[in-house]
Amino acid sequence: MNSQFFFRCIDPRCCRQFPITEKLYQCPACSDLLDIAYLFPELDVPGLRRVFRERRTSNRPLDISGVWRFRELLPFPSEDLHHVVTLGEGNNPVLDAPRSADYVGLKRLKVKHLGWNPTGSFKDYGMTVAVSQARRLGSQYVACASTGNTSASMAAYCARANLKAAVFIPEGQIAYGKLSQTLDYGALTVQIHGDFDVAMTLVRELSEETGLYLMNSINPFRLEGQKTVMLELFDQLDWKIPDRIVVPGGNLGNSSSYGKALMELKELGFIDKVPRITIIQASGADPLYRTLVTSSLDLVPVKKAWTLASAIKIGRPISWKKAMRALNFSDGWCDVVSEQEIADAKAVLGRDGIGCEPASATTVAGLKRLMSLGEGEKPEVTIDPDEDVVAILTGHQLKDPEYTVNYHLDNLYEHATYKNVLVEKSGKLKSTFANQPVQVAADKQAIIKLLGL
Ligand code: F0G
Repeated sequence: MNSQFFFRCIDPRCCRQFPITEKLYQCPACSDLLDIAYLFPELDVPGLRRVFRERRTSNRPLDISGVWRFRELLPFPSEDLHHVVTLGEGNNPVLDAPRSADYVGLKRLKVKHLGWNPTGSFKDYGMTVAVSQARRLGSQYVACASTGNTSASMAAYCARANLKAAVFIPEGQIAYGKLSQTLDYGALTVQIHGDFDVAMTLVRELSEETGLYLMNSINPFRLEGQKTVMLELFDQLDWKIPDRIVVPGGNLGNSSSYGKALMELKELGFIDKVPRITIIQASGADPLYRTLVTSSLDLVPVKKAWTLASAIKIGRPISWKKAMRALNFSDGWCDVVSEQEIADAKAVLGRDGIGCEPASATTVAGLKRLMSLGEGEKPEVTIDPDEDVVAILTGHQLKDPEYTVNYHLDNLYEHATYKNVLVEKSGKLKSTFANQPVQVAADKQAIIKLLGL
C-alpha cells in the first residue's frame, strides 16, 4: 500500500499544502520553507525493519541503494520507481574511533562515514531522490550553488540521468577534488566572482525566473533522501538508538533532514528515544550558533563567512529554520570550533585510520570542546563520558588533500586566497599532530638507520 504525500509549509500558522507535481521550493503563500508531509497507511514497523534488513542481501539496484532500500518512507509510490536514478549510494560504514574517543574524553565513539559514497560525500543520499524527482517532473535543466560537494554529486547523478546540469561555485574557493568531479561528470561549471552566499542568491533567482530546476537543499526532495542516513544508521546499530548525533553545520540541510527523520520515526513508532542532535559550525561561519545564543527569531547571518573548511564556509544557511526545529525536537545544541581545533581533530581521526575532509572533523573538534567545558558552563550541553555518540563524517579525505598536506608540512595558514593571491592572512596554525615526510638518500644503509632496524 502506498502513502500519500504533498508539500506542506513549515510555518505552523500557515501549514498550506501543495501537490508534489508542482515545482516548488518555498510556500507560494507565505514564502516559508516546505516539507514533504506524508499520510502513511498503517505500517507494520517490525515487519518493515525486517524488510529493510533483508534488502541488504538482494542484488536489485533499488535494494542495494542505502536510500531506496527505505522506499516505503520516501515520496515515490511503486509505480514511479522507474524514474529512480541511483549510483548505489549509501551503505556507508559505522566505525569505532578509539583514539578520537580518547582525544575528546569519551569512553567510546562511533563515526558514520558518509564520505564512502559514490561521489565521496553525504550529498549522494539526497541527490538520488532530487534527480529522480527532476526526471519524474520532466525537467530538462537543473542547477545548484555549491561549496563543491553538492555540485560534484549533482553532476554525477545528472550524467547518469542524461540531464543538463549547471553548477555555480565560488571561484577559487572550492577544493580541487570537488572541482575535478564536476568537470569529469560533464556539468557546465560556472565560477562566480563571489562567495557561496552570492552564488546561492543568484541561482535561486534564476530558478524562479527560468525553467531551471533547483537542486540545493531548499528543494525538499534532497532532504527526504538525506533522512535515510538515520534509517541506515539505526539499522546498522540494530535499532539501539544512540544518545547523541554530532553533525557539521553549513547550509544546514543535513541536520534538518536528521531532525525530520527523528520526528517521523518517533511518530511512526520506529524509535522511542530521540538522540540529541549537536550541530558544529566553524567559528568564522557560525550563523546558527549566533541565532541560537541570541535567541533571535530571525537568522543572524555572517556577512563574510570564513573558514579553511571550505565546505561549510556559509553565512546565510537556507535551512536554518528546519535546523532550529531539529534542535528543539531533539533537545539539541549548536556550538562552534576554531580553525586550530578542526585541523587537530582531523589529524586525530587520521590516526584512527579514518580520513575525512576538514568540515567533517568539526564533529570531533566540537565534542572535544564540549567535553572540556568547566562545571556549570553551558549546562544544556553537558556530555557524559559514558554517552553513546555517533559523529557524522560528511566527506572523503581525498576531496581536499592540499589542506592535509599543508597541515603535516607545518604550513597551514589561516588565510584566504582569491585567484591564487593572498587576500587575508591571520596566522599560522600549529601542526600539533604533524607527520612530516622525511628525505633520505637512495641508500639502503641510510634507510635502515632511518627506520631504526
Ligand atoms: N560537510 C561537507 C563535506 C559538506 O560538503 C557540507 C556542505 C557540509 C558538511 C555541511 O552540510 O550544508 O547540510 O549543513 N556542503 C554544501 C555544498 C553546502 O555545496 O557542497 P549542510
